[in-house]
Amino acid sequence: MSLQLGDTAPDFTVETTAGKINLYDYLGDGWGILFSHPADFTPVCTTELGKTALLQKEFAKRNTKVLAVSVDPLDKHIGWTKDINETQNCNVEFPIIADENKTVANLYGMIHPNASTTATVRSLFIIGPDKKIKLIILYPASTGRNFNEVLRVLESLQLTSDYSVSTPADWQVGEDVIISNAISNEDAKTKFPKGVREVKSYMRYTPQPNL
Ligand code: BEZ
Repeated sequence: MSLQLGDTAPDFTVETTAGKINLYDYLGDGWGILFSHPADFTPVCTTELGKTALLQKEFAKRNTKVLAVSVDPLDKHIGWTKDINETQNCNVEFPIIADENKTVANLYGMIHPNASTTATVRSLFIIGPDKKIKLIILYPASTGRNFNEVLRVLESLQLTSDYSVSTPADWQVGEDVIISNAISNEDAKTKFPKGVREVKSYMRYTPQPNL
């Protein structure tokens, strides 16, 4: 059975480009993004890690630590990091796990044998401060992920964990959010003093409450 939303993220201790790391210690009481890529020294992966490096300050501002993983060895990760920095004009500061014996890949179901028996697919997990899995995305090797979307989902997850709201399709920070149907109209007026806009009885909007 593969990991599902709401499951506890499996803990592990592994070698990385930043030394030995235990997942739970590394995350502390913050958020985490754990993502796999198929292989080092490949072009799409190079752009993905570069994009993540360019966003690492944005993730840090949101109390979120990043960890990349592939089944390549440490010396390859170190050599490849230089190429990523050079070609993507960035400075990779997050650790890359050397998962040669597939500890993390197996724990998180990152190898899909009908896609590749050896390489990890493009899996990405967002882990909450409670160590529960909040998001899983899976992409094939041929398609690089959109890391601005990962940041957008993280913003939504953090907002919706603090307030009784959800975020509509294509929502961006600063746009109106949807009030939970568990909140009565009367309570909504108190909880959301910026205003309540009712489109349907089941569809009520309010300005983003934490801005
Ligand atoms: C890439 O990162 O470019 C890549 C890796 C594995 C298969 C296909 C593309």
